Amino acid sequence: MALLSIPDQGVQITGYSEIKDFLNQRGIFFDQWSCEIEFNDQATTEDILNAYEKDLQPFMNNGGYETADVISINSLTDNYSALRAKFLAEHIHTEDEIRFFVDGSGLFWFNLETESVFNLLCERGDLISVPAGSKHWFDAGEKNPFVKAIRIFIDMSGWVPHYTESKIELNYLDFKVTPK
Ligand code: LAC
Ligand code: NI
Repeated sequence: MALLSIPDQGVQITGYSEIKDFLNQRGIFFDQWSCEIEFNDQATTEDILNAYEKDLQPFMNNGGYETADVISINSLTDNYSALRAKFLAEHIHTEDEIRFFVDGSGLFWFNLETESVFNLLCERGDLISVPAGSKHWFDAGEKNPFVKAIRIFIDMSGWVPHYTESKIELNYLDFKVTPK
């Protein structure tokens, strides 16, 4: 279950419909998909995509998305600190960045510029689409990262990060999610 935080205002938003409203008002798509299957470490990309087919197919058809894959990050991931650094620097993409959290969790940070920075803790079942051109960054934590997520693309080339070099993310490195 997702959790939305606005650190500079000490605000926290919980509850699916409250979070969805907040994000939708800002042009950010958010949904939740459920699935009974628990995946173990041996689960392949195909196993995972097949398990979510009933939600994935209509979503992809409606949005004109062409490809989907699975990204898996855990404490055994090679060069995690380098990978973390790539996601952690504020950037934009030329197409929507769509992530469905099959398991694990991570924080998506948004800098819409007209308001305070906010973040969304994404967990199992959460689907988020970061609109093309929106400044954002992502963090699965410094230690013991765990993310298993489906990535959905129109064209993979649209996902290349264009870094803003603002370093705004450095202001939020100490943020910890603490549900109230
Ligand atoms: C990305 C994220 C994590 O660009 O923002 O893949
Ligand atoms: Ni991104």
